[in-house]
Amino acid sequence: MLQSVKTVMVAALWAGLSLSAYAAERPSAALGEKLFNDPKLGGATGTKSCGSCHQDGAGIEFSYKKPNLPQIINMCITRGLGGAPLAEDSVEMKSLILYHQSLR
Ligand code: HEC
Repeated sequence: MLQSVKTVMVAALWAGLSLSAYAAERPSAALGEKLFNDPKLGGATGTKSCGSCHQDGAGIEFSYKKPNLPQIINMCITRGLGGAPLAEDSVEMKSLILYHQSLR
């Protein structure tokens, strides 16, 4: 019993650590580009990244102008990658937005 509680706690700690993997970094377009090409974005376990469908940002050069860009990004994370949405004030989301801005 105590053992399983411990296992859950260790798992929760590990999840917490991996969720905040970028918390200490400053948001940047370079980090955004890395995440854009990362199939594990949002904890996804498939093989697709954002770049699989929008190679090098093709077709989304002007999406940075959309006021609902964070929601669009989260929609593509959940529907396109099968991942979990990102917090809008996270380093990951801010970096993805900077990357979109760098495409223009
Ligand atoms: C399975 C394919 C697929 C994946 C993976 C995918 N998208 Fe999309 N995305 C689409 C489709 C389809 C649309 C809607 C049609 C369009 O505008 O190109 C879209 C639309 C968008 C738009 C809005 C375009 C506009 O201005 O209307 C943005 C921005 C975007 N995706 C970013 C991303 C990001 C960031 C990721 C990674 C988290 C991602 N996409 C992953 C297929 C995908």
